[in-house]
Amino acid sequence: MARPKVRITHAEEFSAAHRLYSPHLSEAENKALYGPCFHHHGHNYRVEVTVQGPVDAQTGMVMNLNDLMDIMRTEIWEHVDHKHLNEEVPFLQGIIPTAENLAIVFWQRVQACQDRLGSGRLYCVRVVESRDNFVDYYGETA
Ligand code: NI
Repeated sequence: MARPKVRITHAEEFSAAHRLYSPHLSEAENKALYGPCFHHHGHNYRVEVTVQGPVDAQTGMVMNLNDLMDIMRTEIWEHVDHKHLNEEVPFLQGIIPTAENLAIVFWQRVQACQDRLGSGRLYCVRVVESRDNFVDYYGETA
């Protein structure tokens, strides 16, 4: 019988500045589309990374959550905390820093550490931008 799969999640918080501006649109169109987010402003973000996998018989864990914390801190947090996302983060250059795009980029950076996820698979990256707004990315197979 297949071992039951469980989803485990680690969360990190960071503060960062950004503005929403599309190079595909005019200045007026950008202002109309993004409203107040056209201007430079900041958020206290929360990133939640969920890994799904079987519970290891020896450890009782899907993977060590300390390892997931370490991956998230080195791959995400260290690069974005107290930074301007449009200007100071090399892996976000040329990307409109919406929560959607942050979730996709963060997914790619965690996915690159797949060999450190034990028998687990990356399941979801959630980016919470404000109390009322958050996005989920499940990769392209979901
Ligand atoms: Ni914003």
